[in-house]
Amino acid sequence: MLIGVFDSGVGGLTVLRALHRKMPGHDFLYVGDTARVPYGRKPREMVETFARGIASFLLEQGVDALVIACNTASSASLPQLADEVPVPVWGVIEPGVAAAGAVSRGGRVGIIGTVGTIRSGIYQRKLEALGLETWARACPMFVHLVEEGLAESAEAELLAHHYLDDRPELDALILGCTHYPVLRSVIQRVSGGGVHLVDSAEAISETVSVTLANCPPGSGRITHFVTGDSIAYEHTAHVIGGVDGAIVPLPVADLVALQKVAAAVSLSLRKELHS
Ligand code: DGL
Repeated sequence: MLIGVFDSGVGGLTVLRALHRKMPGHDFLYVGDTARVPYGRKPREMVETFARGIASFLLEQGVDALVIACNTASSASLPQLADEVPVPVWGVIEPGVAAAGAVSRGGRVGIIGTVGTIRSGIYQRKLEALGLETWARACPMFVHLVEEGLAESAEAELLAHHYLDDRPELDALILGCTHYPVLRSVIQRVSGGGVHLVDSAEAISETVSVTLANCPPGSGRITHFVTGDSIAYEHTAHVIGGVDGAIVPLPVADLVALQKVAAAVSLSLRKELHS
């Protein structure tokens, strides 16, 4: 199987790594849209358009399945994208919600994520539907720390206090942005040892590997397509733990062209459905 995985930047590598660990024989194509990071501060429609363009690119490369390794893009483009593409599509939100529901003992779950994800209210709605109490906080600067390779820094400590010091008592905290597991130690330190941190990378890799268990593997190859500076990407990927594979530049202009085609097709599909 050839599995497409994407995120705005290096954050989705936390998901790619977990997927590769569970399914080492499969092939992966990863898109890191570092030229347009962060997604979290952009309008929902814009992120949905970016997701469509990247999905079209990955489909053109022949992927058999897609993993949206980005909470912001999952909240903006699922389930629409899943309806439009001919392969299975997974996002990271459902697995995170399920994992938090399973570990929360006292029923008080916090969610930290980008402005887009927190504002969408998707985690809050899904967790509250399970009878859990929620507290949510957008932590936009965390993405920049990770992209700059500053996960272990005084700045990370300072910002973690800034975002988390006034939290209520929680028994679980969802890392609702795929960049945040890179900051796991500082977030755990500031939240206190009693708070269970939920990383959806583990949960989603379990779901995907179980679903694809009977599919033929490939050659275990990983290729990274990067819209921004490849050297900076390679450096940050290395700082956050590294993932093997060749790095190939992907011009944003190519994605923009595909976005236009995908938007036109989706519009005509919608018209067809409504006629
Ligand atoms: N890693 C992403 C997420 O899970 C996006 C971060 C961003 O680009 O703002 O939401």
